[in-house]
Amino acid sequence: MSNVEIPAGLKELLQGYTVEVLRRRPPNLVEFAVQHFTQVLQGQRNDQRAKKHSAKPACKGVTFETKSNKPKKDDEEEEEEDTVKSTTSKYNRRVSVCAEAYNPDDDEDDDAEPRVVYPKTDEQRRRLQDACKDILLFKTLEQEQFSEVLDGMFEVLVKPQEHIIDQGDDGDNFYVIERGVYDIFVQKDGVSVCVGKYDNKGSFGELALMYNTPRAATIIATQEGALWGLDRATFHRLIVRNNAKKRRMYEAFIECVPLLKSLELSERMKIVDVLGAHVFKDGERLITQTKAGQQDNIEVEVARCSRGQYFGELALVTNKPRAASVYAVGETKCLVIDIQAFERLLGPCMDIMKRNISQYEDQLVALFGSSVDLKH
Ligand code: CMP
Repeated sequence: MSNVEIPAGLKELLQGYTVEVLRRRPPNLVEFAVQHFTQVLQGQRNDQRAKKHSAKPACKGVTFETKSNKPKKDDEEEEEEDTVKSTTSKYNRRVSVCAEAYNPDDDEDDDAEPRVVYPKTDEQRRRLQDACKDILLFKTLEQEQFSEVLDGMFEVLVKPQEHIIDQGDDGDNFYVIERGVYDIFVQKDGVSVCVGKYDNKGSFGELALMYNTPRAATIIATQEGALWGLDRATFHRLIVRNNAKKRRMYEAFIECVPLLKSLELSERMKIVDVLGAHVFKDGERLITQTKAGQQDNIEVEVARCSRGQYFGELALVTNKPRAASVYAVGETKCLVIDIQAFERLLGPCMDIMKRNISQYEDQLVALFGSSVDLKH
């Protein structure tokens, strides 16, 4: 054995795996090894990709440039090259900030990348499918793309107080919650403020990957939990690409929604990026009233909404139970955003929504004769 040469990096690779096993105590070592080393491989590819992208022009935030009019400045290229210094750590996090340009149409080289598939047991796949069934970002995917997303997801077990994401870090993965409660903290004037929580459902971590910005919030597990991660490259290839299609599909519609008129175009596009589309059958209930109404147990139609109008905001604005039920009249298609995106993106429209609440109160007065306070 004396002349057997140990390949460079082998020791570190095995040490990394051992440390993760000791930290996470996975039930199945072989399955965990497959996940762990696939992620290490993905991390290597991410690093190569980061280096490759570092030669592109820097453009922070969302860009709507077409390839033909995209500016290319030599000094920007040099500056960027200095900022790229990736390392792999927990779940192969990229801790550097890489200012690669974002353009949803500019991902054709993603196809050259081999697909990452994390093998899953039937039971894991069932749990994963269940966790993903209401994720809005997946709602507009074709069946084939959705299966690819599921293939590319890997299980992450978390411990109480574990920081899943730290504000300011570079984005590595997108996460879907299988179980657990996660607090959301955002720095305001140097103080970390809890702005909300995810309670056993939902997803987070899409912003840094979509817009190539640092993480916008810190996410901390308050108890043991389980997440499903999707690495940055796969997220780009499947979700960001799909967003380009979504923008083309819904841009014109969003432009004519009166509520959103006061927003900038880029703000409206951010709404399109995170929305999901949902088709309902005639008579299907979309929202269930949970607050006692005027006429107990008797439902009365108070209003009808049509194209361009909105509903479902009242409970979110007032933090109160649902004040009315909503049913589809004929087959309907709705665009939906979750509460976190609602709070983050629709702040500028809050005044209009609050003002419109009095219209609901007026409707109820007209129908039932007595005044109603929906705001308190
Ligand atoms: P990202 O910036 O990638 O990482 C932190 C995540 O927290 C962010 O994506 C969102 O998915 C999520 N998040 C939830 N609420 C907020 C908020 N108010 N501001 C910013 N990010 C939020």
